[in-house]
This record gives sequence, structure tokens and C-alpha cells, in this order.
Amino acid sequence: MGKKIGMKYLIDQLRKEHKLMSDQYRALLTVRDPQVTEYLFTQAREVAQAQFGKGIFLRGLIELTNVCRNDCLYCGIRCSNSNVSRYTLTREQILDCCEQGFKIGFRTFVLQGGEWGEERSTWIADLIRDIRHRWPEYAITLSLGEHTRETYAMWREAGADRYLLRHETHNERLYRLLHPQGMTIQHRLQCLDWLKELGYQVGAGIMVGSPFQSLNSIVEDIMYLADFKPHMIGIGPFIPQHDTPLARFPAGSVDMTARLYAILRLALPQALIPSTTAMATLSPDGRLRGILAGANVVMPNLSPTDNRSKYALYDNKASFGAESAQGIQQLSDDLSTIGYHIDWSRGDSPHL
Ligand code: 5AD
Repeated sequence: MGKKIGMKYLIDQLRKEHKLMSDQYRALLTVRDPQVTEYLFTQAREVAQAQFGKGIFLRGLIELTNVCRNDCLYCGIRCSNSNVSRYTLTREQILDCCEQGFKIGFRTFVLQGGEWGEERSTWIADLIRDIRHRWPEYAITLSLGEHTRETYAMWREAGADRYLLRHETHNERLYRLLHPQGMTIQHRLQCLDWLKELGYQVGAGIMVGSPFQSLNSIVEDIMYLADFKPHMIGIGPFIPQHDTPLARFPAGSVDMTARLYAILRLALPQALIPSTTAMATLSPDGRLRGILAGANVVMPNLSPTDNRSKYALYDNKASFGAESAQGIQQLSDDLSTIGYHIDWSRGDSPHL
């Protein structure tokens, strides 16, 4: 009983002060009492609703290429996976996705893809200029991996507003275990700092339950995010992909991911937190559970349907039905079952 009161006190404290000590985060991540976890989710929901009401922002996801120079051990489109049939959308296909998205009502979308060499950065810059010119009201988000400061600056000048680059894990040892030689957490964090300096709205984040991840490393991630204060936080459970070296590891947990949404909502009330595709992939009500834990964004897939299965970061990735732009009505219906609705605005970060 005393323990329960103690845990609720911690949650109140986090809501008020926006930070806790590391062992207090650890306690919140592992608490078993369902009343306490429900209290955590309720507090996070209240904070999200105070910021955003019951509106959920949408971002249309366009997966423009599965060609990648990188070799992250968890990712299905890593360069050493020779079973992937590689594609890159043409400029016309991409503009077509933007057009369709615009007609449906989207005012922001994410251009996501594998990491290309710098020599192709001008192609992306030209594309951004085209989109910016045709749809001035669109918020353009990029999610294209690590690049030079010059490339990030060129894309920003071309008209990009936001950039998503999950740091994946702040723990140096774990980072090395999950990534190929030569990739370092220091460089990843350098990229995030550059993006912020260049005036992007920046998204960082992690995978939950990746192989070798400890509770302490998740706590380290919370501390980093609370300190870096990204505008957006992208977090999803790890899901194995059968052609990767990590194929035999179990998937991460929807419950642990939802707890993280709630803790980060209380630590960073204004953050834009998507309830991610990986949540929807692991559990039919994964998206809604994320929203009930304080998430406030959903990213439906706007990619051409024949390419979607080739963008397989992990097995059974959800990309149809309520996950797709074509399934907006279903998404809207799903949201209404928990008293939420779609907010069609650009969904800028309130702390700008
Ligand atoms: N399981 C879950 N998420 C993954 N990502 C890549 N591979 C996987 C996987 N196997 C995530 C990474 C990356 C984002 C685009 O997708 O966190 O940043």
C-alpha cells in the first residue's frame, strides 16, 4: 500500500517537475501494479490533452527508397541484405504521393528512406524545392539518416522544416552492438545537434526491447531526451526481420513502449510523440494504446502500394488498412472509439 502511494507520488512529481532521478525512472518502467500504470497513463493523457486537446496530428509517410549504404544489424533494408529488391521512387511518383496526400487533407508528410551517399543530396534538394514551390503550405519532414552538416544545410535552405533521426540508443556499448563498425553514437548526436542548430524541428528516439538492451540503457535514453528536448520523439518496439543477424531475437514490448510514451509526455509536455507503426504491427490495438499513454501523432503510409512490402524494416510491417492514407476513415473511426479525432493542421511543435 505504502509502495503504491510512493509510486503515485513519483508520477505526480514527474508531472510537476518534468524530471526524476534515474532509479525513480527505473521504478516506473518496472512497476507491476496495474493501478499505478493506469495512473501513469491517465496523467500522461491529461497532459497531452492540455497541450493538444483530443486531436491527433497526421503525417503522411512516403518511403522514397529502400536503397541504403548503411548496415544496421536490426534493419531489413541494410545494404548487406541481398534478398531485398531495391527501388527508388521517381520524382513524378513522389510528387504524385504528395498530390494525393494533399487532396486527402494532409498538410505534412515525411520523406523517409535509406541512407544515400552525399553525391545524391542535390537530387533531394531539387525535390524539396519542387514540393515547396507546388505546395507552400506543406510542412516537409525528412528522415534520411546521417549526412554532412553541408547537406543538412542545403536541404534546410531548399525548404525542409523537420528532420527525424532516431538516436536508437544513447548507450555507447549497445550502440556499437547494433551498428556496423565505424558508426558511433557520438556522430549520431553530432548530427542531431547540427539539425537543431540549422533550425529544423528535430525528432530523436529509440527502439524498445532491442537485443542486449538493458533497463539502465532505457533510463539513459530518457535522461538524454529530457536534456536534448527534441521537438518530436519517435519510439517503437524492436521487431525482428528474418534476413538480419538479429532475426532470432524476440520483439520488444508494446507495454514498455507505452510506459515510455507516458514518462516522456510527463517529462516533455509539448513533445510531438507518434504512436508508431511498430506498435500497430505488434498489436491490433497498439496505436490506440499509444495514444491512451499520451502519444499525439499518427503517421499513415502514403507510399505507392506496390512498393510498400519492399520497405520491410522488420517482419509483417503494417502498411494497409488504418495504417494507410487510403484507410483514413478507418483510422478516424478507431480514434473515435476512444474519444479522439484527427486534427488536419500542420501540427507544428508548440514550443516554436
Ligand atoms: N524493428 C523496429 N524498428 C526498426 N527500425 C529499423 N529496423 C527496425 C526493426 N527491426 C526503426 C529504426 C529507424 C526507423 C526508421 O525504423 O529505429 O530509425
